[in-house]
Amino acid sequence: MTIQWFPGHMTRAKRQIEDKLKLIDVVFELIDARVPLASRNPMIDEIVGAKPRLILLNKADLADAEMNAKWIDWFRSFGREILAIDANTGMGVKEISGRVKLLLREKIERQIAKGMKPRPARALIVGIPNVGKSTLINRLAGRSATITGDRPGVTKGQQWIRTGGDLELLDTPGILWPKFEDPEVGFKLAATGAIKEEVLHIDEVACSLLQWLAAEYRGTLEERYGLADLPAELPDIASAASVLEEIGRRRGCLAGGGHVDYEKAAGVLLRDLRSGKLGRISLEAPVI
Ligand code: G4P
Repeated sequence: MTIQWFPGHMTRAKRQIEDKLKLIDVVFELIDARVPLASRNPMIDEIVGAKPRLILLNKADLADAEMNAKWIDWFRSFGREILAIDANTGMGVKEISGRVKLLLREKIERQIAKGMKPRPARALIVGIPNVGKSTLINRLAGRSATITGDRPGVTKGQQWIRTGGDLELLDTPGILWPKFEDPEVGFKLAATGAIKEEVLHIDEVACSLLQWLAAEYRGTLEERYGLADLPAELPDIASAASVLEEIGRRRGCLAGGGHVDYEKAAGVLLRDLRSGKLGRISLEAPVI
């Protein structure tokens, strides 16, 4: 999905989420495990305020397992509740409802003390485009999902999905914008596929990616494309471009006259990254 964000859209998106917050008990903030900070909305703390929040590190299957653990520690060091999941296969998803119970423990205990039967917790999923919101809704809904119809106070047309556990979800997630103005963030989002390629030059994205891979995943890069003697670092775009050229030559990405087609070579590299063929790769490391 490509969404054009303008200040007006951002204000509207923020307001829509704030309206929904009144209806729910807990927010699921979905971020991409490969780029946990780049895939966060810059105003998320302000938007969510004091509402209980569970951060879900989605696409954990595509990210470096060691780095996932580091990110979990990092977020916890700020007192955040966080869980790594893979919404595609369901890894970690079953743990969500237990985490919600912990987050809402005091509220649930108060209800019980008043002799009330605790009702299912109501949740809203928020996140930037392509982070996996719909996939998670479908995963949580499963086959047993029932849409429970409009409730008082719910914007007309909004529905609750009962997930089978002690959880009800608003059927429309909150779509948030990323931090566009930072070029580093732009590269990371383009590389992971959150921003469509038309927005940035695909060969530039590939060169920035190669610089990161050469420094952090050199062995993987050498092995995947049969590159020998890759330098430990690619200090500039020109050095990265020569590696991209080599990958293009090896993969038969040729234009007329036997020259390498850089865009095709970049497409190969990015597809390999996004599909996991390059292995589990994280593009951000926490600064501790
Ligand atoms: P959104 O609602 O937040 O916009 O995201 P959506 O669920 O549509 O998911 C975007 C893409 O990410 C989908 O791929 C989906 O299958 C994939 N995805 C979601 N969660 C996970 C996960 O935990 N692991 C992995 N590996 N993939 C996940 P797609 O249909 O191929 O879309 P696209 O990549 O072609 O845009």
